[in-house]
Amino acid sequence: MSAPREHWGSRLGFIMAAAGSAVGLGNIWKFPYMTGENGGGAFLIIYLGCIAVFGLSLVLAELLIGRSAQRNPVAAFRHVAGRGWPAVGAMGIVTAFVILSFYVVVAGWTIAYMLFSVNGSLSNPDADALNAVFDHLTAGTWEPIAYAALFTALTAGVVIGGVGQGIERASKILMPLLFLILIALVVRALTLPGAAAGLEFFLIPDFSKVTGATFTAAIGQAFFSLSLGMGAMLTYGSYMPRERNLPTDALAVVSLDTLIAVLAGLMVIPAMFAAGMTPGEGGAGTTFKVLPAVFDAMPGGMWFALGFFLLLAVAALTSSVSLLETVVCYFVDEHAVSRRKATAYSAVAVFALSLPAALSFGLMADTKLFGMTFFALMDYLSSSITLPLGGLLTALCVGWVMGPRAIDALSNQGRIHAPWAPVWLFILRFVAPLGIGWILLQGLFS
Ligand code: PHE
Repeated sequence: MSAPREHWGSRLGFIMAAAGSAVGLGNIWKFPYMTGENGGGAFLIIYLGCIAVFGLSLVLAELLIGRSAQRNPVAAFRHVAGRGWPAVGAMGIVTAFVILSFYVVVAGWTIAYMLFSVNGSLSNPDADALNAVFDHLTAGTWEPIAYAALFTALTAGVVIGGVGQGIERASKILMPLLFLILIALVVRALTLPGAAAGLEFFLIPDFSKVTGATFTAAIGQAFFSLSLGMGAMLTYGSYMPRERNLPTDALAVVSLDTLIAVLAGLMVIPAMFAAGMTPGEGGAGTTFKVLPAVFDAMPGGMWFALGFFLLLAVAALTSSVSLLETVVCYFVDEHAVSRRKATAYSAVAVFALSLPAALSFGLMADTKLFGMTFFALMDYLSSSITLPLGGLLTALCVGWVMGPRAIDALSNQGRIHAPWAPVWLFILRFVAPLGIGWILLQGLFS
C-alpha cells in the first residue's frame, strides 16, 4: 500500500496554488500580444466568452475527476471512466513536456531581465535600443540556454519539496504581491501620453477583424491560461480533501486568472500605443520590449522593473511547477519511482527539449517544421491542438461517462446546494464538445 495522499493544508492554500498554476506567463507574456495580434477588443470578448462557457465548466470537471479519483491523470481517467480513457491522461503528460520546452525559455528571459533592470541595460528611453536588448538576448546561444536551465532547476527544486511545503507556501505569499505591483504598473501605463488609443483598441471591439483564426487563438489562450486540458488542474484536484466546496473554489481560480490577464492587457497594450508600436508588431517579445518604457517613466523605475520581473519569474515558477508536478505525480503513482528520481529525470528531459526552443530566435531561427520554428511549433501544438482536444475529451468523459454521478460528486452527495448543476452537465455534454470540436476543426482546415 502506498502512503496516504498528501493534501492541501487549507482552502486558501489550494486556491493560491491552483491560481498560481493558472496565473503565469500565459497571462502576462502571452495574453497581451495574442490580443494585439488578433484584433484587440473583439479578441478580448471572444476570449472572455471561451472562459465563461468552456473554461469554468472544464476547470470544475477536471478538479472533480482529480478529487474523485485522488490519483494522477492517467489513473484518474481509468478510475472514473474505465478502459481507453487513460489515453487522455497520457496525452496530458506528453503535453506537459511540450509546454515546458518553451515555457522555461520565456521564464529564463524574465530572469535575464531581472539582471538587466539593475545593470542599466533597460534605463534607455529609446525604443530601438530596448528592442535590441531583447533581440540580443534571445538570439544568443549560451545565455538563453543557461537561463532556461536555471529555471528548470528551480522548478525541479520546488517539485522535490512536495505539495504542501514547496508549492503551497510559495504561492500564498507571492501571488498577492504580484497583484499589487501589477496594479501600480497599470495605473502608470494608462496615464502615459498616447495610452488612450491603446485602451480603445483593447476595450472597443471591432468585429470586422474576426476570422476563424481568432476563435482558435482565443480558445487556445483560454485553455493555456487556465492550465486546462492536460491534467494540471486534475492533479491539483487530486490533492483536495473530499469535503471541499469545488464550485466556489473553481470560480475563485477562474476569476483570479481572468482578472490578471485583463490587468496585464491594460498594462501592456496602452504602453504599446504610447511607445508608438503597432499591435501585433512585437510578437513574443512584446511584454519585454514595451514595459521598460513604463518603468522608465516611474520614480524609482529600476525597483519597479526588478520587482516586476522577479514576480513574473515567480508566477512562471508556480505554473511550471504545476506542469512538472503533473508529470512527476504520474511517475511516482504509476511506476513506483521516488519523487526525487522522477523529478530529476523529468527535469533532464525538459532541459533537452528546451534546447531547440531556446535557440529558435538565434541559431535555429531558420530551422522550420511546418513553417514554424521549434518554439512556435511547440506553442502551436499545445495551445491549438492538444489542450483543446484534452478539454473536449474531458467534457465527454464527465458529461457522458460520469453523467449524473458527476452531479452527485460535485454537490458532495447533495450537501452543497447546486441548482445549476444540470446546466453544467448540459454544457459538458453538448455545448463544449460541439463548440470546441468546431473550433478545432476549422483551425486545422483553414
Ligand atoms: N496557465 C499557465 C500560464 O498561464 C501555463 C500552464 C499551462 C500551466 C498548462 C499548467 C498547465 O502561464
